[in-house]
Amino acid sequence: MGQNIVVTGATSGLGLALVERLLASGFQPVLTGRNGDKVARAAADLGVPGYQMDVADAGSIQRVSAQIIADLGPIDGLINNAGIWLEGDFDTYSAEQIQRVIDTNTTGTILTTHAFLPEMLNRRSGTIINTVSTGALYCRKLISVYSASKWAIRGFTGCMEVECAPKGVRVMGFYPGKIATSMYDTAGVTRELDVAMSSQQGADMVVTMLQDKGMVWSQVTGRAITDYI
Ligand SMILES: NC(=O)c1ccc[n+]([C@@H]2O[C@H](COP(=O)([O-])OP(=O)(O)OC[C@H]3O[C@@H](n4cnc5c(N)ncnc54)[C@H](OP(=O)(O)O)[C@@H]3O)[C@@H](O)[C@H]2O)c1
Repeated sequence: MGQNIVVTGATSGLGLALVERLLASGFQPVLTGRNGDKVARAAADLGVPGYQMDVADAGSIQRVSAQIIADLGPIDGLINNAGIWLEGDFDTYSAEQIQRVIDTNTTGTILTTHAFLPEMLNRRSGTIINTVSTGALYCRKLISVYSASKWAIRGFTGCMEVECAPKGVRVMGFYPGKIATSMYDTAGVTRELDVAMSSQQGADMVVTMLQDKGMVWSQVTGRAITDYI
């Protein structure tokens, strides 16, 4: 059996492509997601362990991470991928929408890391990859809260990179521009995705980052050429 790699938000898009790519590369992916039915279906389709874990819920992270470690033993890798989109003028957002984005994209990533990291540090071995975004590399209008949620993770990832590398654990960030997934649809936003990275291309990059244990791929990014216009 290959190394155990936990993927959050793995029921669609990049997360699902990651599970498929990990499996094809000889890893043992652990598929997690907020929707129990989707998790059960995707895990059964691919023949991988699946767990319902809502990263916007601290209790769920605590319970499910402990269960995963108890069931599967040491976790070699964690890919913090779960995330949601929010777009529009800041003053039109509800307080609940703002809280949801921060709970999912920011606090979810930090608490999931908090849950899996100690055991990696004990073994002085492990890899954590955070799916960040080009939204954390520059500023633009209409994405203030999404951007804030990811800028926070850019800072977190960079600090954890230098804190954990001397202890044998690699922490890295993946900074994609547009990926052709349902993230925008789910948020009720129409987005032109003709020139965008595919989920499979994104998954290839992340798995490359995972594979070579001698390398810390500090910031891996990719933008559509149309974004420079
Ligand atoms: N698409 C892009 O253009 C783009 C660009 C840069 C960065 N990203 C980042 O890439 C990551 C993956 O997004 P994607 O494009 O693949 O979008 P996606 O297809 O919508 O996938 C997001 C996944 O996260 C899950 N999720 C949402 N909230 C969750 C929660 N509270 N707990 C656990 N899982 C949760 C979703 O579950 P459900 O299936 O239940 O909805 C889904 O499986 C995100 O972090 C996103 O911010 C995306």
